[in-house]
Amino acid sequence: MVVQVLLALDRPETEALVRHALANPDMVLRRTMPDRPLWDQVRQTHDLVVISHSLLGHAALDGIRALRLQSNPPSVVILTDSMDPSESAAFLAAGCNAVLDPSLVNGTLEQIFQSILSRRRQEWEEEYAGRRGDSPPSLNDFTSCAPAMQNFMAMVRHVVDADTSLLMLGETGVGKERLARAIHAESRRNRGPFVPIHCGALPETLLESELFGHEKGAFTGATASRRGLFELAEGGTIFLDEVGDMPPHLQVKLLRFLQEHEVLRVGSERPVRVDARVMGATNRDLPKEVEGGKFREDLYFRLSVVTLTIPPLRERREEIPFLVQKLINAFQSRLGRQVQGINPDALEALIRYPWPGNIRELMNNIERAVLLCDEDRIALAHLPESIRKAQSAPPHVGHIHPCAPNGFPEEWMQKPLSEASRDILERFEQTYLSTLLRTTHGRIGETARRAGIHPRSLYAKMKRYGLHKEDFRPGRCR
Ligand SMILES: Nc1ncnc2c1ncn2[C@@H]1O[C@H](COP(=O)(O)OP(=O)(O)OP(=O)(O)O)[C@@H](O)[C@H]1O
Ligand SMILES: [Mg+2]
Repeated sequence: MVVQVLLALDRPETEALVRHALANPDMVLRRTMPDRPLWDQVRQTHDLVVISHSLLGHAALDGIRALRLQSNPPSVVILTDSMDPSESAAFLAAGCNAVLDPSLVNGTLEQIFQSILSRRRQEWEEEYAGRRGDSPPSLNDFTSCAPAMQNFMAMVRHVVDADTSLLMLGETGVGKERLARAIHAESRRNRGPFVPIHCGALPETLLESELFGHEKGAFTGATASRRGLFELAEGGTIFLDEVGDMPPHLQVKLLRFLQEHEVLRVGSERPVRVDARVMGATNRDLPKEVEGGKFREDLYFRLSVVTLTIPPLRERREEIPFLVQKLINAFQSRLGRQVQGINPDALEALIRYPWPGNIRELMNNIERAVLLCDEDRIALAHLPESIRKAQSAPPHVGHIHPCAPNGFPEEWMQKPLSEASRDILERFEQTYLSTLLRTTHGRIGETARRAGIHPRSLYAKMKRYGLHKEDFRPGRCR
């Protein structure tokens, strides 16, 4: 997320200190204009406003209180090297986030800004992921004409209502959580809650009681019984983010849940039945974690019955033009800008850039460009150097057929129905079988049984699609 900061500072030395503390490519810093009233400028869309005490004027407290009534008000930091404690308390009570001495040393200023901004970012991401006005996650977000996505989505649609547990894999920022939310929203469970938890974010004991709940007196401080997130997900879905980070002892409890649909609160002998669908996600190479003894093999088998590996953005570049326009529309209204589109050379650069941070990185860059753009189209100059350079790089893939707005590829319309259908079916079968073979580690009997086909027919299909069982043995990466 790009952070917009407004600086209203009285001395060049103070400004230098603040700029140093906020030096980061994702920050857009602006100075107030001396010829316009300060509070009018502060009220515009910003994430953070840093003001020198001497510039506040006598209506400062009212100004800060009024900001709090705005939707999405900025965080406010006041800088002063001398303020009496009661005045500083009044500012904090009015809603100012911090009153700081600008000469704080050893990175303290930087740390305080970072902590204010990371809290803000978290709130914003929660809002975006959940109930952000423009688009709640839906499977249509993933509809695409990129061949890699068509196979993938055929598989996804197959499992939406299957009610099995799902394991989402893929690079950072590809949309694992968004896809999990979309599947939940379109499944029969959508009247129930979607309960996300980051398994790496809490120490083991806290994570255990957070997930499974506890009985009164189970440990010091457990003054009342409490339900865990599994129980809270009753009728809905629990999303275990970074499931590869789960400590071994909790992996056993998770396996038990997947097998028995029961949880045991900490300090209890009596299992509680819970009806919740489990979705897990991870960036880690789980088979490798299994080999290294960090992740239980039995849990891996149970959890990976259906594995959805979201292709990285660079393997579905066809989507970029449509995604970019969608993001421009969303950000121009959120940021109050007039930007309508993008110049062809800038779009070309976006298509060629390899996107290691995937859709999240694309979003950040479009947001930044919309913010920097004073014209009605984003130009190359609004993109960072690393992306601009990609414009002249050779393309990573062959010709790109951009998606039509409904995600339906032109290329299909050039073929008769029977041929286009066969094409899709083959791509689907290939992805289905390679995913299943990965899950079974290349075991033919098991794969054929799960797919409901004869092993001979499986062999024939594998031959047709160039799949070799040896490639799916543990330790081989596919
Ligand atoms: N197809 C899509 N359409 C629109 N927005 C998307 C799409 N896929 C992902 N996003 C957005 O991109 C951002 C990153 O997605 P998400 O958080 O789901 O990624 P992730 O795979 O869980 O990443 P990480 O591994 O870093 O946790 C989110 O803001 C999400 O809403
Ligand atoms: Mg995630």
